[in-house]
Amino acid sequence: MPSKRIILAAYLGVAQAVFHNARQTTSDLEPMTYHSLPLTAIMPSGWLHDQLNVQTQGLAGHEHDFYSYVSDSDWIGGTSYYSNLEEAGSYWFNGMVPNAYLMNDTTRIAQVQQFLSYVLEHQQSDGWIGPETGSKPRYMWGRYPFFFGAIQMTEADPSQKNTIVAALNKFVPLANSMLKEGLGIEPWMQTRWSDFIMTLQWMYDNNLSPNNTMLLETMQLLRTTGDDWIGVFQKENFPTIAVDNLTAPFGVLTWHGVNMAEGLKAPAAAWRFSHNQSDLDAAVQGWDLLFEYHGRPSGIYSADEYLAGLEAVRGTELCLVVETMFSGSYLYQVTGNPKFVDRVERIAYNALPATLTGNMWSRQYLQQQNQIAAQSMSPNPFKNDGPYSNVFGLEPNYPCCTVNHPQGWPKFISNAFVTSADGSSLVHVYLGPFSTKVTLSGNNQVSVSVNTLYPFSDTLTTTIQATKPFTYYVRIPSWSIGKATISINGAAAVAATPDSTTQLFKINAAEGATKFVLNVPADITLESRPHGAVAVQRGPLHYAFDIARNQTTLATNAQQPLAVDLQFEATVPWQYAIDPASLKFQNNPPSSGVLPSPVFDAGLPPLSITATACRITWATAGSTFAAAPPQSPVACTGANETIVLRPFGSTKLRIGEIPIMK
Ligand SMILES: *[C@@H]1O[C@H](CO)[C@@H](O)[C@H](O)[C@H]1NC(C)=O
Ligand SMILES: *[C@@H]1O[C@H](CO)[C@@H](O)[C@H](O)[C@H]1NC(C)=O
Ligand SMILES: *[C@@H]1O[C@H](CO)[C@@H](O)[C@H](O)[C@H]1NC(C)=O
Ligand SMILES: *[C@@H]1O[C@H](CO)[C@@H](O)[C@H](O)[C@H]1NC(C)=O
Ligand SMILES: *[C@@H]1O[C@H](CO)[C@@H](O)[C@H](O)[C@H]1NC(C)=O
Ligand SMILES: *[C@@H]1O[C@H](CO)[C@@H](O)[C@H](O)[C@H]1NC(C)=O
Repeated sequence: MPSKRIILAAYLGVAQAVFHNARQTTSDLEPMTYHSLPLTAIMPSGWLHDQLNVQTQGLAGHEHDFYSYVSDSDWIGGTSYYSNLEEAGSYWFNGMVPNAYLMNDTTRIAQVQQFLSYVLEHQQSDGWIGPETGSKPRYMWGRYPFFFGAIQMTEADPSQKNTIVAALNKFVPLANSMLKEGLGIEPWMQTRWSDFIMTLQWMYDNNLSPNNTMLLETMQLLRTTGDDWIGVFQKENFPTIAVDNLTAPFGVLTWHGVNMAEGLKAPAAAWRFSHNQSDLDAAVQGWDLLFEYHGRPSGIYSADEYLAGLEAVRGTELCLVVETMFSGSYLYQVTGNPKFVDRVERIAYNALPATLTGNMWSRQYLQQQNQIAAQSMSPNPFKNDGPYSNVFGLEPNYPCCTVNHPQGWPKFISNAFVTSADGSSLVHVYLGPFSTKVTLSGNNQVSVSVNTLYPFSDTLTTTIQATKPFTYYVRIPSWSIGKATISINGAAAVAATPDSTTQLFKINAAEGATKFVLNVPADITLESRPHGAVAVQRGPLHYAFDIARNQTTLATNAQQPLAVDLQFEATVPWQYAIDPASLKFQNNPPSSGVLPSPVFDAGLPPLSITATACRITWATAGSTFAAAPPQSPVACTGANETIVLRPFGSTKLRIGEIPIMK
């Protein structure tokens, strides 16, 4: 461990120099391209409402009742959890505020209200928020998720706003002076600086601080005492393989999966006060590099603690799934670049549900793209995580994703619509079933309802009510450009060709009602993967061979018998190669018009793809995980069969990167 004091002295020299320069240029923040809507302006409907209800009735919604890290009154961690990092209550609050309000669930609303009150009533006289840390330094980042939760609370319950803002206005001067003195800085905080900057920018944008100079100065201090994300995201610095044997040039935690998921926001957050185009460019470049070299067909990237390359047996942590979704929504709102939200939607409908059981009572720490068992593994394929990481349970490997995963669905929902920066138009970003109520500029009262089974259907029916005419936009997903059609107010369907930069299709909504039917058909496409294998995509969904499984209960929580650790083992062969030319899409829409609840489990989604396949020889490494697929094309060892590929999110054991038959 190098001397902290020396390192900090160096940081501070840089901090002061950079801030001095920045102040000479301009003291404003760059505007966002789009504005998010307040929590509860967008509500889930249809199957998505059911999905959030499944989460509420599952582990996420019950943690406050039984889970030791958040059920005790000693907030932000309480017990020995990551002892000096104190994050559990803060994470839980960040996810449970939107979960509770989007479900209008009085029990969970009371829980988050009580938590908020407790925290604010116990603010220290010097402004510190959270428990005192005893002999340990006061580290700041455990508070950042709490701030996100508190901001969401001001939106859902404006009566809380003054108290929350007052607490922040006491905390900011303390944080400012701590940063100037080099206090409270440690490696995790040094990667996560953009999370606090976003809170400071929220205060700035909404004119909530008596001292904007201090907000800007604190943003700059956070950046300059933190890791150099702009450097991390330069091509010459970015790792193009699993980092197992590499040394990170900008701090070891910048190549850590969850920190990177959060750090994706950093260049865009920094650009808002640096006004330096290079920062904004780094935001796009970092995203592209990450997915090019570590990306998964399910939308996410691999990091079994640290970035893990393209091999299908390596892991992806649940925390980074939900943090990447949140980062992508923010990056879109800053930049307007549709690539961010195309991917977030894919992650939400594939990687997120794949890593929890259908009933959302058990979750993995690490999911695999090819996953032939969920059990304690020998040998362990994960470089820096334990062999229990892919078990579905209460807290396999580490507890963090138990408290952090609840933000995934709710924040996806609350970022599904945005307004233009001038507040005059509304943009439908994430396709799915929603109802939205918003007041646009000129006191235009607008409500929108989107009726659809999407992503389990290609058709979305949208009804808009408005007191004045306005411009409504809907995102056309990249894979449907050139195919999408729209029928407005019963007219014949015409091509829905979006603007080539924004990927938005423009609709002139009238005063009163406007109704349109958007159709977003898709071709089956193949994604090339290592060893000549392919991944099958159609529209928003990735399709995988769903391996039939049996289950063994490994552990049951003493307080909550529904919180179980489950081992899944394959009960059928999974060693297949396919003929990619044989793929056929099948849609069996529910005759009732309603999807099963829950929908993300074996055989439940109405969509599938059949393939001509044959058995092949595919070695396993040890007994519990698939070695790399054999190099395609692969010789058949058996006769042709038809196998069925299912939406990845509904599979818990699967082959998602499939060899091609000779
Ligand atoms: C939320 O529930 C309360 C009663 O529990 C009800 O009065 C209120 O209208 C509901 N709000 C919404 C948005 O459904
Ligand atoms: C505002 O913050 C700046 C930067 O920390 C500080 O120099 C200044 O004294 C503050 N102004 C007031 C009125 O507190
Ligand atoms: C790391 O080094 C070990 C030992 O040389 C080697 O077996 C392994 O394949 C390397 N990992 C990567 C991702 O290059
Ligand atoms: C903008 O960022 C680039 C890359 O980090 C840097 O080289 C350049 O000096 C910055 N420009 C200004 C005006 O700070
Ligand atoms: C599950 O299937 C595996 C493989 O066929 C078998 O070894 C195991 O005993 C089965 N477990 C249960 C609980 O049925
Ligand atoms: C098996 O499937 C392949 C690929 O579709 C095809 O070329 C071959 O003729 C089939 N073999 C038999 C015996 O039907």
